[in-house]
Amino acid sequence: MERTFVMVKPDGVKRGVIGSIINRFEQKGFALMAIKLMQIDLALAEEHYRDLRTKPFFGELVGYLTSGSVCAMIWEGPNAVANARSLIGKTNPVEAAPGTIRGDYAMDVAGNIVHGSDSPESAAREIGLFFTQELPITTFMGFPYNEQ
Ligand code: TYD
Repeated sequence: MERTFVMVKPDGVKRGVIGSIINRFEQKGFALMAIKLMQIDLALAEEHYRDLRTKPFFGELVGYLTSGSVCAMIWEGPNAVANARSLIGKTNPVEAAPGTIRGDYAMDVAGNIVHGSDSPESAAREIGLFFTQELPITTFMGFPYNEQ
């Protein structure tokens, strides 16, 4: 069993597709462990995307991420990181297959509506960043994935 960090980015929240995205994760078989709507500050956005800080689009990326509320989630399941990435689709919506979240809901890489951790190590780091003791979890469901 593995956990991954998923975030509906500001344009996904503004467009009202949080529920549609949650639905896809639930249908796939993931269990929702934690969820909260939050406004993130520049420091957290920069820390979250610290591996990309030298990229030319970094400023635009963190500006976008702090432009409105995000919906931060922890999802659990077998191979959660890789399964979430395949559900989300390729980074650039132009290349994301129809049927994936980015393939169905996004048109532009700068607004690809959802984030998913790219490795178990990233997932642990990002869960730690967004779900700290100081930022209480709004909802917590601790049911085991295999028990129906
Ligand atoms: P990255 O970690 O490469 O992709 P992913 O989100 O699929 O793990 O990039 C992080 C985000 O940066 C990406 O979701 C959208 C943004 N981005 C751009 O705005 N322009 C780009 O050319 C790339 C590669 C990413």
